[in-house]
Amino acid sequence: MNKTKKVVYMALALLTTLALGTGCSPEKPTPVKTVEIPDGTIDPALWGKAYPVEYDMWKSTGDPTPVGKSKYKKGNDGGVTYDKLSEYPFLALLFNGWGFGVEYNEPRGHLNMLKDQSLVDPSRLKSGGVCLTCKTPYVPQLVKRMGKDYFSEPYMKVLAEIPKEHQELGVACIDCHDNKDMSPKISREFTLGTALKKMGVDESKLTNQDKRTLVCAQCHVSYNIPKDADMKSQDVFFPWDESQWGHIPVENIIKKIRSNPAYGEWKQSVTGFKLAFMRHPEFEMYSNNSVHWQAGVSCADCHMPYTRVGSQKASDHRVMSPLKNDMKACQQCHTETPDWLKAQVFAIQDRAASLFIRTGYATATVAKLLEMTHKAQAEGKVIDQALYDQAKDQYLEAFYRVLFFGAENSVGFHNPTEAMRILGDAALHAGQADALLRQALTAAGVTVPINIDLELSKYTDNRGVKKLMFRPDQELKDPFPTK
Ligand code: HEC
Ligand code: HEC
Ligand code: HEC
Ligand code: HEC
Repeated sequence: MNKTKKVVYMALALLTTLALGTGCSPEKPTPVKTVEIPDGTIDPALWGKAYPVEYDMWKSTGDPTPVGKSKYKKGNDGGVTYDKLSEYPFLALLFNGWGFGVEYNEPRGHLNMLKDQSLVDPSRLKSGGVCLTCKTPYVPQLVKRMGKDYFSEPYMKVLAEIPKEHQELGVACIDCHDNKDMSPKISREFTLGTALKKMGVDESKLTNQDKRTLVCAQCHVSYNIPKDADMKSQDVFFPWDESQWGHIPVENIIKKIRSNPAYGEWKQSVTGFKLAFMRHPEFEMYSNNSVHWQAGVSCADCHMPYTRVGSQKASDHRVMSPLKNDMKACQQCHTETPDWLKAQVFAIQDRAASLFIRTGYATATVAKLLEMTHKAQAEGKVIDQALYDQAKDQYLEAFYRVLFFGAENSVGFHNPTEAMRILGDAALHAGQADALLRQALTAAGVTVPINIDLELSKYTDNRGVKKLMFRPDQELKDPFPTK
C-alpha cells in the first residue's frame, strides 16, 4: 500500500469509527404497557393485550419470508422447503444412518417451530421428550413436573402433557422476558443456566446487552443428549466444559463429545462408527472472538432491529435474516449502503461455502475409504492397526468440524475468520486421513483408485420413505410404540 493510499484508508477508518461511535447506541424504545401480566402467564395472546405491537410482529414470524434477498438462506416461501442435504449432498452421505440423513431442513420463522417438528421425519424424534427442549415454552414446567421422564419418555407422550391448544406453540414471550419489566430473561436454567455456571459466569452480573444475546443462546447452541445402554435419553447438556465466556472453540466441544461413548447418539452407516452430533452452534461460533462480538454487538441488534410501527418505536419481533429486511439492522451502526453491506455478506459466505463444499467432499471421500478398509478387513486382509487408528482419529476431527460449520446457520458471516480456520483445519485432517488410509490399503495389497466413487445417489435418493407424524390436532399416535 503506498503512502497516500494508506492515509486515505486511515481517514476512512477514523470516519467509520466516528460514525459507529454515534450510530452504535441507537435509542432504546420505551414500552407502552396497558395491562399487568400475571406471573407464570404463558399464553402470548395475554401478553399481547399489554403489548399489541410486539405481539403482532411476533405472530408474523409465521408468514412466508421475502424471496430473492438472501443467497444461502432462501427460506420457505410458496411451499418450497429448502434442505441442507440437497444443498450439500455430501451431508446426505455423512449423515446416512439416522434422521438427519433423511431430512435436514433449513430453519424457518419462529412461529413454525413445533409445527415443523410434527412434520419432520419421525425418526428425527426418536430421542423422545427431550426434543421439545428448544421448542415449547412449557419446557421448564415439564422438567420440574416429570423429572428424568421428561427426557426419556416418547415424544408424543411428553407432547400430550402440554395443553392441547398450545401443542403447536413455539418460542413465546415468557421464554425471553421478565413479565414485570419486559427485560430480557433466561427461562431455561436447566440447560443454559447450568452451562454458564460451568464456565464460571455469574448470572447476576450479566448486562442487558449480554441478555440480548443469551435469550437466543437458550436454543441457538449445540447440545448433546447422553444415552443409557438401551439408547434412552438421560439428559441434555451444552458441551462447554473447559471453555470460557467469549471462547467456546470447536476443539473443546469435540474433545467433550469424543470423551464418553454415552454421548454417541447414532451410527454412521458408511463407516459403522457410533458418533455424537452437533446442532446449530450460532452462539458458540459468534461469541468466539468475532469482530461484532468484540464490538459488543448482540444477536438482537442484527435480528431484532429497532423499527417504527405507527407512532411507536419497538424491537422488531419478526426475527429473521437481516438480508430479508434490506439490511436495516446493519444500518443502525453502519453508514454504508444496503447494497455494499449485502455484498460484504455475500463475499464472506461465498468464500466459506466454497471451502465447506471442498472440505465436505474430501471428508466424504475419507468415509468411503474407511468403508473400503472395513471391507478389506472382512475379506481377511491385514490392515496396519497404528495407521488405521491414526486415520480414524483424523477422520473424526475432520467430520466434527464439517458438521459444526454445516449446522451453524450463517454460512460463515457470524465469524468469518473462525469459520475459515475451522474449515481449513478440517481440510488438513481429512487430507491426513486420506493419505494414511491409502497407505494402509496399499500395504494390504488393495488397489485404491485415484478418484473414489462416492455413490452419492445411494444416499441422496434413497433416504428412506418419509412418513408424516400425526399432527397434534389429530389423533395422538406414537410413531415409536414400545415393544
Ligand atoms: C425456544 C428456542 C429458541 C429461542 C429462544 C430462539 N430461537 Fe431462533 N429458532 C429456533 C428454532 C427451533 C428455529 C427453527 C424453526 C423452524 O424451522 O421451524 C429458529 C429459527 C430462527 C431464525 C430463522 C428465521 C427464518 O425466517 O428462517 C432466526 C434468524 C433465529 N431463529 C434467530 C433467533 C434470535 C436472534 C433469537 C434471540 C432473540 C432466537 N432466535 C431465539 C429456536 C429458538
Ligand atoms: C452483525 C450482525 C449479526 C449478529 C450479531 C448475529 N447475526 Fe445471525 N445472521 C446475520 C446474517 C447476515 C446472517 C445470514 C443471513 C442470510 O444469509 O440470509 C445471519 C444468519 C442467522 C441465522 C440463519 C437465518 C436464516 O434465515 O436461516 C440464524 C438462526 C442466526 N443468524 C442467529 C443468530 C444468533 C442466535 C446470534 C447471536 C448468537 C446472531 N445470529 C448474531 C447477522 C448477524
Ligand atoms: C426470542 C426472544 C423474544 C421473544 C420470543 C419475545 N421477545 Fe420481546 N424482546 C426481546 C428482546 C431481546 C427485546 C429487547 C430487550 C431490551 O433490549 O431490553 C425485546 C423487547 C420487548 C419489549 C420492549 C419494547 C421493545 O419493543 O423493545 C416488549 C414490550 C416486548 N419485547 C414484548 C414481547 C411480547 C409481547 C412477546 C410475545 C408475543 C415477546 N416480546 C416475545 C426478545 C423476545
Ligand atoms: C450494533 C452495531 C452493529 C450492527 C447492528 C452491525 N455492525 Fe457490523 N460492525 C460493527 C462494529 C463496531 C464493527 C467493527 C468496526 C471496526 O472495528 O472497524 C463492525 C464490523 C463490520 C464488518 C467488518 C468486519 C471485519 O471482519 O472486518 C462488516 C463487513 C460488517 N460489520 C457488516 C455488518 C453487517 C452486514 C451487518 C448487518 C447484518 C452489521 N455489520 C451489523 C457494528 C455493527
